[in-house]
Amino acid sequence: QTGLITLDLGYKNTGATLSEITYLDGDQGELFYRGYPIEQIAEKSNFTEVMYLLLHGELPTEDQLDTFNGNIKKYNFVAEEMKKIIDAFPRSAHPMGVLSTLTSALTAFNPKSVNVQSKEEMDLAAELLIAKFAHLAAWTYRKTLGLPLNHGDNSLDYVENFYKMAFRLPNEEFVINPVVTAALNKLLILHADHEQNCSTSTVRMVGSAHTGLFASVSAGISALWGPLHGGANQAVIEMLELIEKDGGDVNKWVAKAKDKNDSFRLMGFGHRVYKNFDPRAKIIKKAADDLLAALGIEDKALDIAMQLEKVALEDEYFIERKLYPNVDFYSGIIYRALGIPTEMFTVMFALGRLPGWIAQWKEMRLKGDPIGRPRQVYQGAQKRDYIDISNR
Ligand code: SDX
Repeated sequence: QTGLITLDLGYKNTGATLSEITYLDGDQGELFYRGYPIEQIAEKSNFTEVMYLLLHGELPTEDQLDTFNGNIKKYNFVAEEMKKIIDAFPRSAHPMGVLSTLTSALTAFNPKSVNVQSKEEMDLAAELLIAKFAHLAAWTYRKTLGLPLNHGDNSLDYVENFYKMAFRLPNEEFVINPVVTAALNKLLILHADHEQNCSTSTVRMVGSAHTGLFASVSAGISALWGPLHGGANQAVIEMLELIEKDGGDVNKWVAKAKDKNDSFRLMGFGHRVYKNFDPRAKIIKKAADDLLAALGIEDKALDIAMQLEKVALEDEYFIERKLYPNVDFYSGIIYRALGIPTEMFTVMFALGRLPGWIAQWKEMRLKGDPIGRPRQVYQGAQKRDYIDISNR
């Protein structure tokens, strides 16, 4: 009916767009990238191939993948002036705030990336951003340690290149550990897209005003930073460390999470769409087990996470509300095992989600979606006359 406004707070049941990229079935706990089940993609693919799949809709042939890789390598550097921007931040600045700033600043050094109309121009902007974003993500980490900001190494693949830019130490030969890069590939694949989540909807909303790709992604980074969204992976580890420090009594903390008078929530649990296990959480949990075994690491946080999961999944409150572990519940265990510090966890989520944000932005622009402009149900003051300050 015209004129009728249906209030749907938090867009819990609003179909905001038509998309062909990612399919979720929340009840079945299924996730498909361009029709391919996430379990098969995580097992058989690699992050560069998944970036191509999300952006172009099909798995690439060898030639297509070589061309894609070559295009990305063409831009495997960042303007030196960008270092002056990152220098202005205190070392204590949260990497997500630095990353969002640097991503938007990229526009100033690539002005042609703003007013793009054709698919070719969008693909060019995408490859440029994919290449430079790996630098920005690596640099946000090195900034916190006061380490030199490196440029890329074209002899490496995308994930190896990021890992070396982030973790190489001055005057030391950097050794690529295949166990580490295999775990990173899997994690980045699992974070690559997730249909109309909060940060992707933000990228689409900002992009619907025909704002440039870099500034639209910068807005998405800010949305992802929130502890209810991508920031949850950092909040999970901080929660597990708190529980460990408090003596490891998971029943006490599950009770706190159920107490309506207590603002504490079980971070890494619950999901707006999944009312079953998040398929990514299952894959990450197994990958965490395998990686810790391969690296010979004992992590108390993993033991606490598994105890928490067991207690919560048997508890009426969580069962009734269909609250299960989500993608963020176990990912921090792996990042920690890879030597990635807690404040970098959400940057790793952003690096993974970048191709999804770009693919969704490109689809929105190519489909010609209108500028986003939802309505409201007004509950404020009725019409009234102005009162001079002398009469207030
Ligand atoms: C991500 O959307 C995506 O796809 C996101 C994501 C992606 O890939 O992009 O999957 C990534 O953001 C995963 C979610 C990470 N966030 C967290 O782990 C934070 C903890 N989880 C919650 O805050 C919550 O579950 C949300 C934000 C994820 C979902 O919130 P909803 O759908 O708005 O649900 P809600 O807040 O209305 O909760 C419904 C009920 C409430 O209880 P009642 O009012 O019905 O009594 O469930 C309770 C909530 O209090 N609840 C929780 C809980 N999550 C929900 N209670 C305790 N602990 C929790 N974690």
